[in-house]
Amino acid sequence: MTGPITTELHDDVLVIISNNPPVNALGAAVRQGLEAGIKQGLANPQVKAMVIRCDGRTFFAGADITEFGKPMQEPGLPTVVDMIEASDKPVVAAIHGTALGGGCEVTLGCHYRIAVPSAKIGTPEVKLGLLPGAGGTQRIPRIAGVKLALEMTAKGDPIPAKLALSAGLIDRLAGEDSLVADAIAFARDIADTKPLPRARDKVAQADPDAVAAFKKDNAKRFRGFEAPAANIACVEKAADGSSFDEGIAFERQEFMKLMMGVQSAAQRHIFFAERQAAKIDGIDPKIALREIKRVGVIGAGTMGGGISMNFLSAGIPVTIVEMAQDALDRGAGTIRKNYEASAAKGRLKPEQVEAAMGALNPTLDFEALAECDLIIEAVYENMDVKKDIFTRLDAIAKPGAILASNTSYLDIDEIASVTKRPGDVVGMHFFSPANVMKLLEVVRGAQTEDDVLATVMALSKTIKKVAVVAGVCDGFIGNRMLKPRQVEAMKLLMEGATPEQIDKVHVAFGMPMGPFQMSDLAGVDIGWHRDPNRIENIRDALAAEGRWGQKTAKGFYDYDEKRNPTPSPRVAEIIEDFRSKSNLQKREISDEEIVEKTLYTMVNEGALILEEKMAQRASDIDVVWIYGYGWPVYRGGPMFWADTEGLKTIVAGLEKHGFAVAELLKSKAESGGRFNG
Ligand code: 3HC
Repeated sequence: MTGPITTELHDDVLVIISNNPPVNALGAAVRQGLEAGIKQGLANPQVKAMVIRCDGRTFFAGADITEFGKPMQEPGLPTVVDMIEASDKPVVAAIHGTALGGGCEVTLGCHYRIAVPSAKIGTPEVKLGLLPGAGGTQRIPRIAGVKLALEMTAKGDPIPAKLALSAGLIDRLAGEDSLVADAIAFARDIADTKPLPRARDKVAQADPDAVAAFKKDNAKRFRGFEAPAANIACVEKAADGSSFDEGIAFERQEFMKLMMGVQSAAQRHIFFAERQAAKIDGIDPKIALREIKRVGVIGAGTMGGGISMNFLSAGIPVTIVEMAQDALDRGAGTIRKNYEASAAKGRLKPEQVEAAMGALNPTLDFEALAECDLIIEAVYENMDVKKDIFTRLDAIAKPGAILASNTSYLDIDEIASVTKRPGDVVGMHFFSPANVMKLLEVVRGAQTEDDVLATVMALSKTIKKVAVVAGVCDGFIGNRMLKPRQVEAMKLLMEGATPEQIDKVHVAFGMPMGPFQMSDLAGVDIGWHRDPNRIENIRDALAAEGRWGQKTAKGFYDYDEKRNPTPSPRVAEIIEDFRSKSNLQKREISDEEIVEKTLYTMVNEGALILEEKMAQRASDIDVVWIYGYGWPVYRGGPMFWADTEGLKTIVAGLEKHGFAVAELLKSKAESGGRFNG
């Protein structure tokens, strides 16, 4: 046999082997090879049983997503899975790494499954806006029950081999290093079993209470998404007395509906966008990286503490520096408290908490940073302060150490200019809470060395961040695009909209919160303390009255003790006051106008960012907004969303309100182009 599938005959057991790097995706050649392999096993009288296994780092990680949206080449995956299941010679799946999606479904077509203890199996299709479309929604409930099937399909998180074993999704655990031999031995053990266990022959018990509880518990998580409901409906179908074939027909119909929809296209876009973001244009992917054995963090406040936790959790020791003992103690105390809270929720073992804390060196001694390979400055946003810190760092940091600033707005080149090693300086803009938010903007200064950038991008993967390269400009990618949204939202208040109306439009769009809810969470007083006598706008007026947001129980909204917001009559008065001072007439503002002014302007800013080459590609901008600001993934990020709205529509909306339209946006709209693809 040629192609990615080969076979090996071990006396009476035929081993069918896939070798399709990097993740053994089930593309057409793999499917054809599997079909041929099974036929070979069936035709050879010497063969009593078959084993399917994969070479490389993982068992099949699913259908080949790059084939989606293109004409399907025969045989389709459902046909292959059915053929395996129909075999009258037993077929054993030998699983290592992650058996995901179609890969998991191949195992469910097999009569038996053996896995190494470190393996995981799951159906993450829902994260691509899909459902398991090769029988997974019908076979999992028949083997493991409705409850686990709901978890696996509608949430999409893979489960460890041990849990799969107890649920019947795996029959036996192999030795971690002896999967092939153990699988062949297992195949011999069960070679004469009659009748063969087939998932399609099993009956799933309906569990309406479990379904109702599952829907209720996950209502918030599923808000706005189409795929979870489709997964749930398919699992219910598996247990409602319908035949297996009826269930499969229903699954196919729902799968095709999702596959043709915008949401799945958006979610697939983000899957590839996230991986694309890691690639740096113009830098050899094999460039030698700098070694990062210890990280230094300057500032033990909320940001510095959160940043430190990323490295500690990844097993990288951290030296954290503060100016005063009480601030240092508070910072280290907060880190411990956060870890202990995770341990209390069962997410960490007590020894992991101690290991992380043991790797933390809190100190008042700035010179201790001399032993660090990467030093991240995380003090407040003030250019003079940052310049002072970088001057001192330059004097003590070891040669080759990477000097990073966590600034969210300031000019990295200006910061770098005070050092004698501007090539070692880079921006690492974490998002708050820094130990939770997945986004990292990596800011490439004019002189940042290629290996510095590549090292930081690679390190971001180690600390489980999604990193995006940004150029030096005010607010980089994310905050720069946030600005027009905030400015326009404030103008709309002056013209007659309420905070509630604007926030409602954004939440209905799928954002976790609207602009004013976000201000209240972040602090209405940000930036105001520098000049507390200034009352130039509504925001200043709120800050001056102590309406600093959630932390003072009042901001754009009033909050009760459980932080539930209600519209504030006082805020309405303040807005009215500013409106009359500006001689503005209150008018009705439509939801459509809110979308055009607060979201279309973001797309326009995104186009400017691309024009100025401050982002490498449109999909990077999408990644920033999905992972940094909670843009709904089913809308694929602002630039993908603009493509789906139609760029002509966006341009028309902007022009209607008199905005200057970015050239790139205009030209793409005129030529019928798109930002993505
Ligand atoms: N199809 C095509 N390409 C895939 C792929 C897939 N299913 N899964 C991963 N890749 C590609 C990635 O795009 C990446 O390509 P690149 O190197 O050119 O950027 C490369 O494989 C390596 O992937 P990762 O960087 O993600 O590698 P990791 O080791 O970090 O993660 C993984 C491995 C856990 C398997 C992860 O890649 C993953 O989660 N893959 C997707 C799994 C999935 O969603 N499966 C379901 C597919 S849909 C389906 O099966 C439908 C069926 O029900 C009919």
